[in-house]
Amino acid sequence: MSQISVRNLDVVIDGHPVLRDINLDVASGEFCVVTGPSGSGKTTFIRLLLSQLRPTAGEITIDGTPIAPFPAPDRGVVFQDYSVFPHKTALQNVLVGPQFKRSPLLGRVFGNERKKLVEHATQALADVGLAEAASKYPGQLSGGMRQRLAIAQALICRPKVLLLDEPFGALDPEIRAQLHRVVLKLWRESRTTIVMVTHDLAEAETLATRLVSFGFAKGGGGTIVTNGTTAAVSVVTPLTGKRNAYGVRQKKRKYR
Ligand SMILES: Nc1ncnc2c1ncn2[C@@H]1O[C@H](COP(=O)(O)OP(=O)(O)OP(=O)(O)O)[C@@H](O)[C@H]1O
Ligand SMILES: [Mg+2]
Repeated sequence: MSQISVRNLDVVIDGHPVLRDINLDVASGEFCVVTGPSGSGKTTFIRLLLSQLRPTAGEITIDGTPIAPFPAPDRGVVFQDYSVFPHKTALQNVLVGPQFKRSPLLGRVFGNERKKLVEHATQALADVGLAEAASKYPGQLSGGMRQRLAIAQALICRPKVLLLDEPFGALDPEIRAQLHRVVLKLWRESRTTIVMVTHDLAEAETLATRLVSFGFAKGGGGTIVTNGTTAAVSVVTPLTGKRNAYGVRQKKRKYR
């Protein structure tokens, strides 16, 4: 069964078609990369998957259930513009999601529960190479570091689906390559399904198990023009038998 299923999706904003007849199935654990010209509706599509926007027609299901009509922790997101809290340290930023998950009213937990969360958040920072930066504020971090922080912040909530909208768009090629390695490692370990938008075709081919291109439909609005698989990614996770930071037991497994 596909994990994300999108059926007959249409979006009309102020009488203008923005997306037309989008149909897509993404299997669990896939790394689906979306490309396409500016204005073809890629960000709108990500916002629909997040429930930041409701479709005019059609349906999105995850694991066979229609998505909640509001953003929820089953769907994590990283945008291009460093979506971290500037007044919180790196560690505090990573703690926000899990604290709200456990204590929706206060947004804080105490005692042993907090200790465990801090350990987990510290591990999540180490996973993205930010162990040394735990007590720094976003303003003290480089662009690449802030983007790694945003990724840790999204992944610590163990989303079923991670949505990335041009997450590396503002970074130089070397930092981008570094982040590709980080994201591929986290993807293998967490087995999260990823839908990522990029304008960079080389990046798309490096990361994707599936490439989807948006284009323009006749009469206006964006639609899917190609939907194919790619053999670019074939990786094996280490055989350790241990659970990783996301609670997934590591075993030898091939992804394509
Ligand atoms: N809230 C909105 N109100 C009016 N028009 C909108 C709104 N959101 C999106 N649009 C329009 O929908 C179209 C698609 O926008 P979207 O941002 O999804 O494109 P995109 O493919 O992400 O482009 P880019 O590659 O430049 O990021 C554009 O024409 C945009 O102006
Ligand atoms: Mg966009």
